[in-house]
Formats: sequence, structure tokens, C-alpha cells
Amino acid sequence: MTVSQFFMPTRNLIGAGALDQGLAEVARLGFKKALIVTDKPLVSLGVAQQVVDKLAAQNVDAVVFDGVQPNPTVGNVNAGLALLKESGADFVISLGGGSPHDAAKGIALVAANGGKIEDYEGLDKSAKPQLTLVAINTTAGTASEMTRFTIITDESRHVKMAIVDKHVTPTLSVNDSELMEGMPAALTAATGMDALTHAVEAYVSTIATPITDACALKAVELIAAWLPTAVKEPGNKQAREQMAYAQFLAGMAFNNASLGYVHAMAHQLGGFYDLPHGVCNALLLPHVEAYNMSKAADRLNQVGAVLAANNPDLAGLEVIDAIKKLADLVGIPKSLQELGVKREDFTTLAKNALKDVCGLTNPVQGGLDDIIGIFEAAYGPR
Ligand SMILES: [Fe+2]
Repeated sequence: MTVSQFFMPTRNLIGAGALDQGLAEVARLGFKKALIVTDKPLVSLGVAQQVVDKLAAQNVDAVVFDGVQPNPTVGNVNAGLALLKESGADFVISLGGGSPHDAAKGIALVAANGGKIEDYEGLDKSAKPQLTLVAINTTAGTASEMTRFTIITDESRHVKMAIVDKHVTPTLSVNDSELMEGMPAALTAATGMDALTHAVEAYVSTIATPITDACALKAVELIAAWLPTAVKEPGNKQAREQMAYAQFLAGMAFNNASLGYVHAMAHQLGGFYDLPHGVCNALLLPHVEAYNMSKAADRLNQVGAVLAANNPDLAGLEVIDAIKKLADLVGIPKSLQELGVKREDFTTLAKNALKDVCGLTNPVQGGLDDIIGIFEAAYGPR
């Protein structure tokens, strides 16, 4: 027997209307000025200003940092830190999907602990809790608004650093499904397939527990049932709310059971070619799980049964085919080749993937040739 540990974020609000309640709670925390960490699309859509106005109504000042890139970089974290100091903000709000949350975690962690973000690559490298961070989530999703994972690209090495640290868990997470209705179809599909990957990798992880299993399987059920609807009908409130719960459940699963080779490999594609995280995961997931069949067939077949039982389009399909079909249904690109990935980079990508902390809990531990083989499999049409 081994002792398991289970991390929970402090407080989480989920459902339509959660934004107003979350910001009312922010006011009660007693802070004076927020650094809002976000990206340019959310500024263009007026969502950032909406949050600034709602904070002002609660007598909380705010300054907006909109420089977060889709794969947030060390440079983004440093720029945010500079604005934090210059503005005198006393807490951080992240607004958006995984990218703003990850950048904000990096900013809040370094603000409290000193040094530079690169010092915290790996597991639990920090000494002190980060600056208070409120994460307002607009995608479903990376679940970064409630996890202890932060992925920051070191642009000098073209490598994504995995920072897994209990101190980066946000103080308060807000999942207002009405904010998710603005997501375009491709982003809904990519972030939804990211959530599926979290659930599947957590379910076959070597450190899964009955708690993470329950979260993972419920997430698979909700994603099978609701992701295609959320993609096709952006304004479908029930689909958006069910996906908000699904991605949160998948987050609870992987925040504790960790991940596997899909994420270890997808991080490298994202860092090297600046590709969308969810799309990389969706392309790699069936091939990594086919590789994992030798050790995790029972668990993967259970995932397949849940997929098949919750979406008529997936009925009768084995797990690997069901994952591929779901990717087709939501319009994920067909191959790594289509994304511009180059085969001559596979060795470098595979070497870096084997160093990624997310791979440690993959049920089958392979070598360089195995990882290259999985990249090869995902290179052609699925
Ligand atoms: Fe992910």
C-alpha cells in the first residue's frame, strides 16, 4: 500500500452567473488593486473591460496586462512581473483559458518567491505560497484555473517547462459557463479534447486512486455527451455548463493522478512549433493509448465503454476508434503533418518529451525509439 495525496483548490464557483459572485468575493478579500493577466482576444471582445468595470463597482482598482501569448513564455511572465511592480497591484486575476492562467501563476509565484520562473521547473521547487490569484476561466478546458500545473515556454530553448507546484494553485477559481459561449468552434474542440486527454491520462496513470478514477470517468461521460453539441451550438447553455463541469472533473483527476506521454509529447510540439495544446493532445491521444494497451487494456476498455454509451455516434466502437471518431466529429485536424510538424525533428522532440515530468506516470515507460514511433504514427492521417 502507498499513501496517496489529494490536492484541492481553496474555493471554486461553477455555473452561469459565477463571474458576479466571484468578483463580489474578490472585494471581500480586502485587496486594493488587481493585475489582470489576459490576452488580446479577450481585450478585443470587451471581456477584460467588463471585469475592470465590475471590480471598480466594488472599489477595487485594476491594471490590465494583455501580453500573454497562446503558449505563454518566460518573456510574458517577466513582462507581467514588471507591470505588477510598477503598478503597485497587490493581487493577481487571470482571465481567459490556460495561457493567461499559466502566465499568471508564473507571475504570482515569482512575485512571492523571488528569482526567475526557470528556477521553479520541476516538482515543488518554491518555498512560499504565491501572491493571491483569482482565476476566471473562459474555456473548457485546460483546468489550469484549479490545478497546481503551470506550463511556460522557454523561448531560448524552444522547450515547454512543466512547473508542478502546490503553491501555484489559485486561491479562487471562477467557471462562468456564460463566458464560454463566446468560444469559437475550433477552440471549443481543442480545449474539450484537452479535457478528454486529462481524464484518460489520469485514469490510466500509475498513481490513479478511487477518487481520481471517479472524476476521470464522469468527465469522459460528460465530454462524450456534450462536446460535439458545444462545438456545433456555441450558445447552447446546457452544453457549455456540462463542459465546464467536465473539464473541472478532469482537472481534479489529473491534478492528483498526473498525466502521461500525451502531455509529455504535446508539450514539445507546442514549445517547438507554437501549436495549440489541445490539438496536439487530440492527435497524439489515440496513438499513445494504443501504445499503452499492453499495460492498461482493462482501464482503456472501460473508457471506451463510457464513450460508446454516452454518444450514439460512438456506439459500438473500441476505445481507440472512439477517440478518433470524437476528434473527427469536432473537427480536429487529421495529422501532425497537416500542422507543419517535421519528421527530422522527432528525435529532438522525443528526447525532450522523456525529460517532461508529466511522462513519469504513463503506464508503459518507454525509450527514445518508442516515443519517436508514436510521433511517426501521429504524423500521417488518423
Ligand atoms: Fe492539457
